[in-house]
Amino acid sequence: MSGFKVALVGVGQRGLQHLEALCDLQEEELIRIEALVDPFSENLSTEKISKYVPKYNDSDIKLFTDYDKFLDECEVDGIWFVIPPNQHTNQIERAAQKGIAIFAEKPQSLFLDEIFPMSDAIEKYAVPSICGFQMEYDSWYTKIRDYLNDKWVASMAMINCGAVETHGVKHTIIGKDQGPENRIWAADRKWSGTSMVEAGIHQTDLMRYWSNDEISWVQSSYVERASKAIQEEGDNPIAYHVNYGFKKGGTGTLILTKPAGVFYTERYDYILTSKSMIKFEGDLIAYGVEEDKYSIEKGREHFKTKDVYKENETIKVLAKGPQQDAMGQHNTKLISENFIKSIVLNKPELRKNSFKSSINSLSAVLAANVSSSIGGQKIDISEFETSSKFSKFRTKSK
Ligand SMILES: NC(=O)c1ccc[n+]([C@@H]2O[C@H](COP(=O)([O-])OP(=O)(O)OC[C@H]3O[C@@H](n4cnc5c(N)ncnc54)[C@H](O)[C@@H]3O)[C@@H](O)[C@H]2O)c1
Repeated sequence: MSGFKVALVGVGQRGLQHLEALCDLQEEELIRIEALVDPFSENLSTEKISKYVPKYNDSDIKLFTDYDKFLDECEVDGIWFVIPPNQHTNQIERAAQKGIAIFAEKPQSLFLDEIFPMSDAIEKYAVPSICGFQMEYDSWYTKIRDYLNDKWVASMAMINCGAVETHGVKHTIIGKDQGPENRIWAADRKWSGTSMVEAGIHQTDLMRYWSNDEISWVQSSYVERASKAIQEEGDNPIAYHVNYGFKKGGTGTLILTKPAGVFYTERYDYILTSKSMIKFEGDLIAYGVEEDKYSIEKGREHFKTKDVYKENETIKVLAKGPQQDAMGQHNTKLISENFIKSIVLNKPELRKNSFKSSINSLSAVLAANVSSSIGGQKIDISEFETSSKFSKFRTKSK
């Protein structure tokens, strides 16, 4: 047993998935689950938790409905923050001040004015941190990043056709006038910040992960849901079209849709480098010839005759299928396991992101909201993060 003591703050839909992974890691003697914290005592009941996490054993786990009391009374090495993004106050800063490692679920908040003090505290007290982008631990996506390491990524596209019905009832109990009484807060803009922030942040972060690049500007256009549908379907837009500009010069497009009554979901992605295109088929395929075997004459000839290059020179299988769901529980466990091992074994390289490095993904989706709201203007991310022109978009309204 490494003796690494963990607390989970927010025992809702995602918190329960983390708890399942943490129970596995406790069984494997990597950690000890010390405390669960949630303002609603029903979310802490063993009966309820066991329905979602059959392995859960409450003996020796301390339960708190009050975060301050938890922080005063409990000594832990790491905290998993898994609360709705509009519910942050300064819980993360206070944990960092105590030297506690931070696992922060995405979106880290809906407001950059809250994010920077959190990040500053994490940096000041030098505590290890990570954001909940579990797809960064996916084996296919890591193969893509490795393949792209010595290439220039020119263009990436992702189309994610979802459905408003995929928003589940959440565990946060929402009072009258505070938000959606049906507790489907992901469909409500005040809580989710839009589906681009709540869900599109995963795809946005993935583009950054694949290309090992940063987003420098954003331009977007959203299609608002018809007002007569809002009562039932929530007030998030029905379609999001977002373009990203990357620091190394490439571009990315993300289309996200959330219609109602369309029981068909689909995903399409491609990645283009100067001499190859990655496609997600049954296997993970890179089409294209190696730079050193290419000339424009040979390329023209091959287009006509198909016999200049052998098939294995133009089609590479980067990984054999099928791909497991990258958002799945196996990667939820992997991200926590690697975070903990990075600290216990003193191997920071096991952390694929940090709170600070993940701010670019958050700024990009928050800026996408703003770009659409101001007629599709191109927004420079560093200006968005610092200029007084955008200050009202960074601040939580009282
Ligand atoms: N990485 C992923 O794949 C993934 C998946 C789902 C959700 N999430 C993220 O996880 C976070 C939580 O979402 P969820 O689906 O679990 O929502 P949820 O409403 O089901 O759960 C949130 C939990 O936090 C508790 N809570 C609310 N305010 C709190 C506070 N101030 N202090 C402590 N606990 C508080 C609630 O009682 C609830 O139990 C969100 O940021 C969401 O975007 C990430």
